[in-house]
Amino acid sequence: MARKPHQLRDPFHDSDHYYMTDSFVAVAGHPLHAMSVAFPIALAFATLGADVFYWWTGDPFWTRAALYSSGFGFWLGVAAGITGTGELVFGPGIRRRIAVWTHFIAAVTLLSIMGANWGLRIADHEAAVLPYGILMSLLGAVMTGFAGWHGGKLVFDHQIGVSADPGKG
Ligand code: HEM
Repeated sequence: MARKPHQLRDPFHDSDHYYMTDSFVAVAGHPLHAMSVAFPIALAFATLGADVFYWWTGDPFWTRAALYSSGFGFWLGVAAGITGTGELVFGPGIRRRIAVWTHFIAAVTLLSIMGANWGLRIADHEAAVLPYGILMSLLGAVMTGFAGWHGGKLVFDHQIGVSADPGKG
């Protein structure tokens, strides 16, 4: 007999590992990914801020600031991506969840934008800002918001990267 939509079961839910969502890349139970994402997130918005201030004031100080914030933002984002990928690969219940792969794709897209935004500025950080640099920073900020919001859903909605054992940390 055909099942009604509310009776359909995702076969992944039947896996013994589905609820094994504890963080694997952690120090004393504290997930390194959640700790490290704050830096690229802040630096992506700092780069946009520096570009806007350059557009507004014309002071080349802001283009040097944007060169460094975009570069550190990109490399710290790569470091955060490595810790996140560790969670994805080593967490049996984490890699089974489609939402984590969606976050992975959004995050890799973001890292590509952040890398391009930095690379654009290396040869001439002042000429790079208007118009392409500031547009890349805007795109990077929007993508950071999306990837970060979605990362939060993994924690709050799926309980990924949390400790099931309260005595662990
Ligand atoms: C590139 C590969 C990445 C993978 C595979 C990945 C995977 C994950 C996973 C599994 C979680 C759940 C929490 C945990 O297990 O620690 C998470 C949370 C999160 N991710 Fe990622 N991530 C990646 C990159 C990024 C990047 C580049 C950013 C932003 C710059 C980011 C932002 C976040 C945020 C904000 C959270 C929520 C943290 C919290 O609320 O505690 N992720 N990610």
